[in-house]
Amino acid sequence: MAETRPPRYALSGAGKRAWKTYLPLFGPDAYAPGIGTLVAVADDTPEQLAAVTARWNVPAFGGDIRPLLDEVRPDVLIVTAPDHVHAEQIQAALSAGVDVLTEKPMTVSAAQAAAVVAAERRSPASLRVAHNMRYLNLHQTVKRLLDQGAIGQPVQAHLAYRLRPGHGRSYFLRWHRRAAASGGLQITKSCHHFDLLNWWLGDRPQEVTGWTRRVHYSPDTPAEDRRIPADADIDDVLAAVIRYSGGAVAHYSLSARSPWEGYTLTVLGTEGELTTRYEVAPPDGTPPAERYAVEVSPLGGAPHTHRIPVESGTHSGADARMIDAVLRHATPQRASQAATAVDGAYAVAVGEALTRSAADGTVVAVDELLPGVRTCAHAGPAWATTGKES
Ligand SMILES: NC(=O)c1ccc[n+]([C@@H]2O[C@H](COP(=O)([O-])OP(=O)(O)OC[C@H]3O[C@@H](n4cnc5c(N)ncnc54)[C@H](O)[C@@H]3O)[C@@H](O)[C@H]2O)c1
Repeated sequence: MAETRPPRYALSGAGKRAWKTYLPLFGPDAYAPGIGTLVAVADDTPEQLAAVTARWNVPAFGGDIRPLLDEVRPDVLIVTAPDHVHAEQIQAALSAGVDVLTEKPMTVSAAQAAAVVAAERRSPASLRVAHNMRYLNLHQTVKRLLDQGAIGQPVQAHLAYRLRPGHGRSYFLRWHRRAAASGGLQITKSCHHFDLLNWWLGDRPQEVTGWTRRVHYSPDTPAEDRRIPADADIDDVLAAVIRYSGGAVAHYSLSARSPWEGYTLTVLGTEGELTTRYEVAPPDGTPPAERYAVEVSPLGGAPHTHRIPVESGTHSGADARMIDAVLRHATPQRASQAATAVDGAYAVAVGEALTRSAADGTVVAVDELLPGVRTCAHAGPAWATTGKES
């Protein structure tokens, strides 16, 4: 029997997300033991590198990922650098034959996303996108109910997301505030929601129309502790209508300033209606919910409420389940839910279609932004389904 060795991981971008979710995988008290070994780290800031190498005795590299790929040849590159860095690093890893797990958004533009899909096609290696929201138990329940036909065929979805002021404002203080770095909230934030809608409906988005505005955050916003920098060029209120290939329509909105954080969702189908509310943070003074409730109201039948416990852990347990699925190869069913390069591309392209529609008032055809992607099928990577053997 072939001897297996633990996969060797390199991490690029040792910031907040890396410290919260990925670096703890390699600690002595890893929350998901047995993932493999950290063998290198990259960051363009010496202090960030020093913080990692003080804990892990691994070689450190700068912001150009190619020397790391050439010298260390990891099995998997985890990309947690800022959004605008993803495309170049993913393509470098894929052309070196290295598998990639990238943070969302996969890229900051649809053109980059199409290039990444093409690069994966040419490579023996594979890419998975950390669309961790798929793995929240609430979201898995919504997916299961829709797939089981609990409301018949979905016809319309209404997803209204909002952020608390502190969180919304943070996007205008950090690198996300520049559209060139993040694609705007419609890509860096809404890619989570567009991926959920695409996944729940089991369909590809075809056309998008919408509006974006800056209402809440500007250099003139009454100062709290820091002023919004003058170079912020992203919007904080979004509205989109997305038409799917199968005819379903999704109505989407995001506001970056609300008393509570999370979303309300209603999906109307041919045989009934599904409604839920996801609270990341309740309004001030309201106790956090202990359970989520998904209400299914069939046409001509009694409504039924599915109650799901709110789990602990980062992103309400979604991160641990995602790691299980994409890095620990837990169950084939979970692994098959992982977001592929094509899924990542469609989540980004809906955001870009919204930007374009808001700019010129047109209805934007999503596939025209993603040349060559619709016809693209790619087998899942070995490490996402069966584990990696040496
Ligand atoms: N899935 C989620 O729920 C979730 C949550 C938060 C952040 N994210 C994503 O994770 C990524 C990182 O976000 P963050 O909040 O940790 O940002 P951050 O700014 O805290 O960290 C980014 C790090 O990357 C480094 N960096 C910059 N250029 C680099 C380069 N060329 N090569 C390597 N490193 C480079 C920075 O010095 C910094 O240390 C982003 O893509 C973000 O969208 C995802």
